[in-house]
Amino acid sequence: MIRAGVVTISDKGYAGEREDVSGPLLADLLRQAGIEVVHQTIVPDDPEHIRRTLIHLADDLKLDLVLTTGGTGFTPRDHTPEATLAVIEREAPGLAELLRWEGYKRTPMAVLSRGVAGLRGRTLIVNLPGNPRAVQEGMEVLIPLLPHAVQMARGEDTEHR
Ligand code: MTE
Repeated sequence: MIRAGVVTISDKGYAGEREDVSGPLLADLLRQAGIEVVHQTIVPDDPEHIRRTLIHLADDLKLDLVLTTGGTGFTPRDHTPEATLAVIEREAPGLAELLRWEGYKRTPMAVLSRGVAGLRGRTLIVNLPGNPRAVQEGMEVLIPLLPHAVQMARGEDTEHR
């Protein structure tokens, strides 16, 4: 069983000024894929707050997977990629590239997401954009990759196909 956490990164969501649609959607899509969502939270677009949350989920809760949504664009308050890069130890650029590449087929705006992905210890962290459609589209391509990705991250023996 894959144990996952969902982190919505949004000043407005955190302040209760905007309903968080993407976080619950992300959690639903994970559960539909048979992945256990053990932690779900909203944090503001504050680098220190984002870093602390990611470290807690990886080091204390030892989750297999942490998916973030939001804060990947170009506005001055978008800090998710930098905060994620500060806490991961090994990058997984292919996942971030795949999300932009597949997203671009639906909307050219997908390249405006600066999201990154990588590993902190045995925890895989992936940034998704904040838009619910981007979450839906991103998860369609990500979900099939997760079992093997998590198995490798845990250091389990894997049959390479
Ligand atoms: N990716 C997909 N697949 N679908 C989308 O609609 N929206 C884009 C992009 N990625 C989008 C997408 C837009 S408009 C922006 S500004 C960036 O994600 C960054 O969004 P964020 O700042 O909410 O993370």
